[in-house]
Amino acid sequence: MNKTVAQIPGKLYLAGEYAILTANQPALIMAVDRYITATATVSDTKDQGTLFSGEHTWNYQRINDSLDFDALSEDDQLFWRYTHTAISLVEQYVRESGKTLVDYDLQINSDLIDVDGQKLGFGSSGAVTVAVILSLLRLYDLDPNSSLTLYKLAAIAQTRLNATGSFGDLAASSYGGMVYYKSLDRDWLKNELSKNFSVKDLLDIEWPNLEIEPLLDELPIRLYFGWTGSPASTDNLVEYLKKQLSNNDDAYQDFVTEASRTVTDLYEALALEESSKVIELIDLYDSLLRALAEDYDLDIITPKLDFLISTAHSLDMGAKSSGAGGGDCGLAIDSIDDPNDKETQLFELWREGKVTPLELHLAPKLYK
Ligand code: PMV
Ligand code: MG
Repeated sequence: MNKTVAQIPGKLYLAGEYAILTANQPALIMAVDRYITATATVSDTKDQGTLFSGEHTWNYQRINDSLDFDALSEDDQLFWRYTHTAISLVEQYVRESGKTLVDYDLQINSDLIDVDGQKLGFGSSGAVTVAVILSLLRLYDLDPNSSLTLYKLAAIAQTRLNATGSFGDLAASSYGGMVYYKSLDRDWLKNELSKNFSVKDLLDIEWPNLEIEPLLDELPIRLYFGWTGSPASTDNLVEYLKKQLSNNDDAYQDFVTEASRTVTDLYEALALEESSKVIELIDLYDSLLRALAEDYDLDIITPKLDFLISTAHSLDMGAKSSGAGGGDCGLAIDSIDDPNDKETQLFELWREGKVTPLELHLAPKLYK
C-alpha cells in the first residue's frame, strides 16, 4: 500500500493502578476516544524519508538498512526514541517476513494533549508506539488483525527502551474498549530479548502470566472525567515507591492483596451490571490508594484530585484518581439507573474548583 493510517486511542485506569506493577495482578483499563494518528506514505526518494510529530521533524537517511538515529542530537534522540524503536522492530519483522524494506514519510498527530500542548496523562508514549507499529505494518500489508500481536510488538519495543511500567497503557491502546489486564512477566521478556531473538517466534508463543480480556462495549454506569491541569510524572512516583519497597514492602503487599480482590469484584460487578456495587468498589480503591500514599509518602491524591473526588461524593457519586495520580486525571461514577443526570451539576462544581471536565467516551475496539 502507498498510504496507510493507524488511529490509536489513549487510555485511563479505571482501577488496579500500582498493584499492576506486581506480576499476576489485575487492572481494568479503558481506551478513551482521544487518539494518536500515524499516517505513513511511501517516500519518493530511496533511502530517505521524513518523520513529523508536532514541531519536530526528522529527515532520515537510511544507512546500511537502518535509520540514522545516531546522527540526531541528544534532545532529538530523546524525543524520537519511541518512534525509532517501533520502526526498528517493525523493520526486523518485515525482514523476517521476507519482504523488502521501503522508505516513507510518517506524520504523527496527537490529540492526547490539551490546547496548550500539556499532556493529559492518557498514555501518549504507549499510543505512539502502537500507532507507529500499526501504520508501518499496514504499509507492508502485514496488518496482524490481532490486538494481542499489536500489544506484543509494542511491549517488545518498550522493553527494548527499558520502560519500567506495567504496559497497561499498551493493552488498552492495542485493544480499544475496556480491558481486564494481567501484566506479563517482564523479566521473562527482558531475558528473551537479551538473546538473538526472532520477532515472529516471540509473537507465536504464549507469554507467561499475560492475560488481556476485552470487556463490555457499553458500560452499565455513567463515567465522568476531570483534568487537574497539572501533568504528573508516573515514572517519578513509581521510582520513588520502588526505592522504598526495597526497605519495607509489607504495607505494599497488603495493598496488592486488597487491590486484587477489589479489581476482581469490580470486574464481576461490571459484568453483572450492578452499578451501586461498582460505585462502592471505586470508592474502596480510592481508599486503598490513599492508604498506599500515606504508607509510602507518595503524593498520589493532590489537593485538586481530593477536590475532584469530594465534589463527586457530595453528589452521591463514586470517585477516584486515575493512574499514578499526582495530577493528571480523576474520574467520577454515577449509576445509570439514577434518573437525574448530574453531569451539569458536577461539571459546574468542578469548573469552580478549576478542574476541567473532559468529554470522553470508551473508544471502540480496534478489531471487531
Ligand atoms: O498515570 P498513568 O495513567 O500512566 O498510570 C500509571 C499506572 C501505574 O500502575 C502507577 C504504573 C504502571 O506502569 O502501571
Ligand atoms: Mg498519570
